[in-house]
Amino acid sequence: MNQLQGEVISAVATSSNLGDYETTYEGFNWKDVEKEFSWYETGKLNLAYEAIDRHVDAGRGGRTALLYSDATRDEAFTFEELQHLSNKFANVLRDTGIQKGDRVFVFMPRTPELYVSILGTIKVGAVVGPLFEAFMETAVKDRLEDSGAVAIVTTPSLLSRIKRNELPELQHIIVVGDEVEPGEGIIDFKSAMAGASSEAEIEWVDREDGLIIHYTSGSTGKPKGVYHVHNAMIQHYYTGKVVLDLQEGDVYWCTADPGWVTGTSYGIFAPWLNGATNVIRGGRFSPADWYETIQKYGVTVWYSAPTAFRMLMGAGEDVISKYNLSSLRHVLSVGEPLNPEVVRWGLKVYGKRIHDTWWMTETGGQLICNYPSLPMKPGSMGRPLPGIEAAIIDDMGNVLPPYRMGNLAIKTPWPSMMRKIWNNPAKYEEYFRIQGWYISGDSAYMDEDGYFWFQGRIDDVINSSGERIGPFEVESKLVEHPAVAEAGVIGKPDPTRGEIIKAFISLREGFEPSEELKADISKFVKVGLSAHAAPREIEFKDKLPKTRSGKIMRRVLKAWELQLPVGDLSTIED
Ligand code: PRX
Repeated sequence: MNQLQGEVISAVATSSNLGDYETTYEGFNWKDVEKEFSWYETGKLNLAYEAIDRHVDAGRGGRTALLYSDATRDEAFTFEELQHLSNKFANVLRDTGIQKGDRVFVFMPRTPELYVSILGTIKVGAVVGPLFEAFMETAVKDRLEDSGAVAIVTTPSLLSRIKRNELPELQHIIVVGDEVEPGEGIIDFKSAMAGASSEAEIEWVDREDGLIIHYTSGSTGKPKGVYHVHNAMIQHYYTGKVVLDLQEGDVYWCTADPGWVTGTSYGIFAPWLNGATNVIRGGRFSPADWYETIQKYGVTVWYSAPTAFRMLMGAGEDVISKYNLSSLRHVLSVGEPLNPEVVRWGLKVYGKRIHDTWWMTETGGQLICNYPSLPMKPGSMGRPLPGIEAAIIDDMGNVLPPYRMGNLAIKTPWPSMMRKIWNNPAKYEEYFRIQGWYISGDSAYMDEDGYFWFQGRIDDVINSSGERIGPFEVESKLVEHPAVAEAGVIGKPDPTRGEIIKAFISLREGFEPSEELKADISKFVKVGLSAHAAPREIEFKDKLPKTRSGKIMRRVLKAWELQLPVGDLSTIED
């Protein structure tokens, strides 16, 4: 049990939006949220219209929607400009014959063109598939193949990672760059956009029509395509209002990349549905750069991750004192456990409580949070939002009393719940195996005040720097290395990254353990799969613990690593 459980930081004076809704659990009705959209009457909608065009129609088109900067660019876009650009891109897609329901992927760094591409794709009713720019060949191919993508938007430098000859369904590659080499199926983004009309018919879809597929990892099998529909916007809008606390005039910065769900639900949808000015910073993390971004734009609401806060903490207070961060009103975190230590540090250096929020790729939006009006217990994820019912249940589906550890489960449904796992109904069913509940795969307990406390993953999924990594995908790549006979991968606790990837490896005949070999194996994963999936630590073993059916027992590897008892070994090979 958490030692710090008694500690409570009361809610400081706040202008919480929650008061707009009935805040008791019984009185809450999602219909009250829906009524704020006109499609409540027609039933036909499009998230991109509600996020961008609606503000133009309401006379707010001149407001700043996007403030973008990286090492070489510094640009601002109004809602009206984004409307025109996304219309143009919608027309570019339509010219190729792309239709409602087709999968269109985006694989590029954070630039305005990425955001325009995502909005334009949604406008034609196609389903967006975001890919993180660090993905290498195998990772890219697996995702395009599984989803049957027909088009991808990318940059010249990433082009070589797309194996077109192995992807028969992929017909169009839209390349964003200054010099685009012509080729079959290649569309030059710039010239196509220049020739396209800035007016477009929006594809009005049903609320259950497809919006986005985010690929994410489980402990077995290839990454799974988590499929979300337009109806999710109700939750994005609502949580943007009551959890991000977005208000008139806010300058909001979410540091996540759209390759991950936080970068779309809260880097695109929630802020724009609420009409906020959205800051996008390209390039890589550096403490000075981040503080400079907050100061430059006068960021008021800032959403980031524990790893980033821990790195900022590590960078010390000197760097903070060089910047004026007084614009900050509300700070939030997601992705991994937020240490009480970090909360206390945030209070000291920013004068703000860092609000933890809990949710997952599959949930599409925030569910358990420290919303602004809630007294905070540092170390807890907060409480379920009004409209959401959470519980700790055992494997039989019995609801457990306070302080008992078990499966963190959510009563179904809620607006942004995933609607399928692409091509894999069996995987989807697993989440709902207990009637009436979504089983998250996290273990937690609830205290007597209804606050939830994260304890860990029930499966072997690794969470490194807030990025979710499936051990199977890494192991599959490792065994492709000529020296590797067998590989088992675990998450090893790490003070900054939460966990790092550690691989246990047995070598093939004729290979000897060495530091060079470790480096070479790690690089092999980095180049073949992606940098964040590469093991930071490798240990060679003569033999790995396996079940009689030949499955590597990661649980035993973990016990070795943590010097814990190995538990039941009745299924081990010998
Ligand atoms: O284990 C939980 C952890 O991240 C998992 C979901 O990862 P992903 O789908 O990549 O989504 C991350 C961003 C929404 C969860 O099953 N996790 C997420 N938020 C928290 C967390 N663990 C502890 N505290 C959190 N606030």
